[in-house]
Parts: sequence; structure tokens; C-alpha cells
Amino acid sequence: MKKFPEGFLWGGATAANQFEGGWNEGGKGWSVSDVARAHFDADVKDYSKHVSITTKDIEEGLAHPEDEVNYPKRHGSDFYHHYKEDIALMAEMGFKTYRMSIAWSRIFPNGDDLEPNEEGLKFYDDVFDELLKYGIEPLVTMSHYEPPLNLVLNYDGWYSREVIGFFTRFVETICTRYKNKVKYWLTFNEVDSMIRHPYTTGGLVEDRFEGKNFEEVIFQAMHHQFVASALATKICHEIIPDSKVGCMLTKLTYYPYTCKPEDVLAAQQKMRSTYAYSDTQVFGEYPAYLLSYFKNNNINIVKEADDDRIMKEYPVDFISFSYYMSSCEAADKTGLDVTPGNTILAVKNPYLETSQWGWQIDPLGLRISLVELYDRYRKPLFIVENGLGARDELTEDKEVHDQYRIEYLKKHFECMLDAIVEDGVDLMGYTSWACIDLISESTKQISKRYGYVYVDIDDYGNGTYNRYRKDSFYWYKKVIENNSLDFE
Ligand code: BG6
Repeated sequence: MKKFPEGFLWGGATAANQFEGGWNEGGKGWSVSDVARAHFDADVKDYSKHVSITTKDIEEGLAHPEDEVNYPKRHGSDFYHHYKEDIALMAEMGFKTYRMSIAWSRIFPNGDDLEPNEEGLKFYDDVFDELLKYGIEPLVTMSHYEPPLNLVLNYDGWYSREVIGFFTRFVETICTRYKNKVKYWLTFNEVDSMIRHPYTTGGLVEDRFEGKNFEEVIFQAMHHQFVASALATKICHEIIPDSKVGCMLTKLTYYPYTCKPEDVLAAQQKMRSTYAYSDTQVFGEYPAYLLSYFKNNNINIVKEADDDRIMKEYPVDFISFSYYMSSCEAADKTGLDVTPGNTILAVKNPYLETSQWGWQIDPLGLRISLVELYDRYRKPLFIVENGLGARDELTEDKEVHDQYRIEYLKKHFECMLDAIVEDGVDLMGYTSWACIDLISESTKQISKRYGYVYVDIDDYGNGTYNRYRKDSFYWYKKVIENNSLDFE
């Protein structure tokens, strides 16, 4: 019988901006996500429509605090009021860990406040206590798409060097407060995503940078996040000596469309570009190819004297990543089918099936990704997001028969096991996205459901918010119980 390693951290993942709700309660301030409007009519392929934002859009959002229909992240799945019930469900599945994020604007409502909001700190104390009551280890993302909005409007987001100081104050506060409760931390969710959605990740609104090279702005902001991430790692280790701090990358795996050397080179270049950010956080310095890219594209990053030393001295302890799909890359894409992936559009692989949202389902790609990452970094890996976004149907008996999700997960788990047992990969754990239904990051629909638990609301927030166990709930419980797939 093939088993997962002893102590394997099985669990599930969510993020405050999509799950928590209570956006204007308990002293929380506005975050970038609270004014991110849904575009329900737009094609799911039209990522630029879904993620783009202007200053006018933000003003419009601020002017309509009562509107939770067009701003679904405001209500999320209302974990804020359901956390006890949700954590009990996680415990029933046997979770060993729960990945969640702390909303920065719940602790420092404006980002630049001198003192934290006690009510916000107390909320997470209660959540962690509830988790620990069941022996569930919290795994906390410090920043998951939720910079406080004030930092956008008054500092231009992460473009401003000052934001590093505000962030480290936040990190010091949460590490000090939760030092006896939280051992596993991630700094920035998908730090690389700044390239694809600069607003959500970095608080960058393009129209505020008129006359500037926006790509340079993005890389400058990312540089500030790299320095902040290294400082966060340092702070965390100093305050919580036995803590483990990870980076988090979007694992976008690309295959050459054909074995033509031109396609192989195109795929290699694409892969390198996706690794640039984890390379920086793991090796503590920019890789040569990113520096060449800066040079060839006239991108000049302003650094302070100590930045390189800080990045070098405080690299991460482990590498966490999200993996949903793979894609192809070709030197000449003329006439090739294109399909959506995780905030990308890419060449379609004729050998793979796609999800209802067009993402290409590729369990072997997970094994390939694990091997690539482990060979490259030789540090423990953690899969902190993986799952199938699908339209689920709640029957009259309040059941959800999501065999398709079980199939998806089972195949991915088999590949994980192969990577561990056959390929020798050191995998710390797996938290599926999202263990309980929540608002989609890209399209802001809850109808793109990922959970083991169904949340009874529709895309417009109508419904009871009641929770119902799906068939996958019982299946995942058995996987965790047996620490193996051999139980059927
Ligand atoms: C990850 C993000 O990239 O993808 C999550 O970290 C997001 O926040 C997840 O929800 C799935 O993407 P989507 O667009 O289907 O919600």
C-alpha cells in the first residue's frame, strides 16, 4: 500500500479577500478587493476586463458602500460570521492544516496607521484558537491580494518604498501577537502575479502613472515586495525561532507545442520567466536572465544600498505554489487554439481535457512541476493551491454529487505520490483550493466552485449562506484518514 509520508500536512486553503466577508465590520478598512467590481457579462477569457481597474472605478466603488452585488468580495462566503462552523467542518474532514490569509486592512485599516486595530487582532486570535482546539495547524499568508486601499490612493501602492515599512510593521505585529499559535507562514501570495494583475497584487493603478513606463513601475513594486518578503522572513524567524517561512508562486507549467527546436526554446523561455520570481526569493538574488531582460527593455530598478544584502541574507525556508493546469507554448502561434488558464491565455494542448472555464486538466503536469521545482531548489515544497473550479448542483436533498472533482483530485494525488515515492520529492503537504466555496479571484463568480463544502449563495449574493457537504467531502476525509488512496 502506497502511503503519503508520516505527518503529511493535508488540508485546505482560502484567502480573506475572497472568503472572509465582514468587509466593513470590526474596524476593518477598505482593501483593494473591496472595490474590485465583477463583470458578470464579460467573457471568462477576457482577463484584462476582469482584472483591470481605473481610479474612476475605485471612486465608484467607494461611493457605493451598500453595493455587495457588484462587489462580491465584500461578502465573500461570510467566514467572518461562520468561522466556528467552517472550522468544525474542516476538523470533520480531518484537516491537519488550514491555509488562510490575514486581511492587512483588518489589522491596519489604512495600512499606514501607527497602532493596530485590536478588534481585528482579536478576530484572528479567535480563529487560531478554534483551529488549535481541533489540532489544526494554521498556515498563514501575510498578503493575499488585499493591500489596504489607502496605500493605493495616497502612496501608489507597492511602487512606493514607504510601503515596505508599513508592511514590516504589520508583520511584526502579527508575528508578535500570534507567536504561540502560528508556525507556518507565507509572505506574498503569487508574487509573480503582479505582472498579470498589478492592481490586486501590488495596488498599482495604471492611470496614476502617466508618462512612466508601466512595466518598470511593476518591477519596481515587485522589487519592494522582494525586499519586504526578505525582511518578513527575518522578522518572523527572530520573533518565532521555530517558524518556517515560504514563498508562494503560480506554477504555470508550459510544454513545447511540438518538438521543433523553436518551440522548445519558446517554452523554455516561458518557463524561465515564470521561475524568475521564485529564483529571486529562494537564491536571494535576481537571476541573470531577469537582469538581462531589465537591461534589454530599459527597465531601471531603484534600489537602496542594503537591498541586495537583505535579499541574500533572508531567503525563504520552503517553496509553496499553486498548480491548476498546464499550457503549451509555440514560437509561432498563428492558427493555434488558445484557451484560458490561471489569469493567462495560452496555446491549447490537444491531449488534455479542459475544465468548464477552459483550464487544461493535467495531473501529470503536477508531477512534472514537483520534480522541476525540487531539482531546481532542493528545498521542501508545499502545494498550497490545487483544485477544480466547476458548476455544482445542489439537489433537493441538499447534496452535491461532484464525482468529477473526486476524479480530478484523485489523479492529482496519484501523481503527488509518484513524485514523493518514485522521484524523491520532499513534499510537506497539500492544501486544496478552496476547501469551502468562495468568490473566484479572476471572474468574481461563486458559481465557479472549488470546495468540498457548498455555500448556498449565487453570483449575486442571494441565498442562505448555509453550508452543505459535497460527495468530495466524504472522499477527502477518507484520503486523510488513511493517508493513502488505497481505501476503496
Ligand atoms: C490562485 C489565487 O492563483 O488561483 C487564488 O491565489 C485564486 O486567489 C485561484 O482564487 C483560482 O483562481 P480563480 O480565478 O478561479 O479564483
